[in-house]
Amino acid sequence: MKPVINKTLSISVFSGKGGVGKSSLCANLGFCLSEIGARCLLMDCDLGLANLDVLLGVTTGANLYDLLRADTDAQNIILPIAKGLDLIPAASGIPELVEMDEDQRALLLEKLQPLLKTYDFLILDMAAGLNPTVLSLAHATFKRILVLTPEPTSLTDAYAMVKVLSSKNKKRDFLILVNQVQNREEAQNTFARLDNAVSKFLGFHLVYLGMVREDDNMGLAVLRQQALIQIAPQSMAAKDIKNIAQRIHTLRTALLPELSGMPVLKNF
Ligand SMILES: Nc1ncnc2c1ncn2[C@@H]1O[C@H](COP(=O)(O)OP(=O)(O)OP(=O)(O)O)[C@@H](O)[C@H]1O
Ligand SMILES: [Mg+2]
Repeated sequence: MKPVINKTLSISVFSGKGGVGKSSLCANLGFCLSEIGARCLLMDCDLGLANLDVLLGVTTGANLYDLLRADTDAQNIILPIAKGLDLIPAASGIPELVEMDEDQRALLLEKLQPLLKTYDFLILDMAAGLNPTVLSLAHATFKRILVLTPEPTSLTDAYAMVKVLSSKNKKRDFLILVNQVQNREEAQNTFARLDNAVSKFLGFHLVYLGMVREDDNMGLAVLRQQALIQIAPQSMAAKDIKNIAQRIHTLRTALLPELSGMPVLKNF
């Protein structure tokens, strides 16, 4: 039998502090990637407070947890959002993924993997802070994006996340996205402060992925339950997100040889 070659880049998007823009960024990155021709699947992993469906203005039916039922397969829980963009919604109040026993998690992955392989990107929108789900899913994806803002508390919480993930999961490859900045200088200063602390106390360097400027259109998009890219494609934040999507697209191309033969999500 011909081996199945995986070409899907899985990325978890997380933060220390809440409300820094993860879900808005995931939704818009998904749109941008699909606009440049990539097939993208968003997975809402904020099991406590699912909100990608609300941000994208879609009504959800089945969710991840329904996959544990014999009569539900992965196709049943996918919601089409746009051409090349799909969503797996979460649902508030469902048990933590890691509270499932090993057999349940294995069943979930077994049902998801064939479907995940049909996408170029799998983007996981996580809950803020550290919980067991975040820890295990951050480990399961091929790449990790850490979102922070220039606020001092966001910076210290981001450092705490890097510290725990690097010691527990032995991960050292963090892509840093600085959101809600006034300009490039503020983004680079914020990155430098975090990177200096990480290199001094943890002994490795972070990778700067990019910045997204503070933009009132972002709030407007949330109110309208539409992606910023749709309602204000020429806005500052939309332009910044497009740049980041392009970078992620290029990154996947560079990683293709490494992705071959790897599962989209490692056992978690
Ligand atoms: N670049 C930006 N400019 C202005 N407002 C922004 C920007 N990015 C995000 N926001 C606003 O910040 C708020 C929080 O965004 P969002 O829900 O995406 O954050 P989150 O990190 O997913 O939050 P949580 O930790 O609760 O999951 C929203 O009202 C959103 O409109
Ligand atoms: Mg969120």
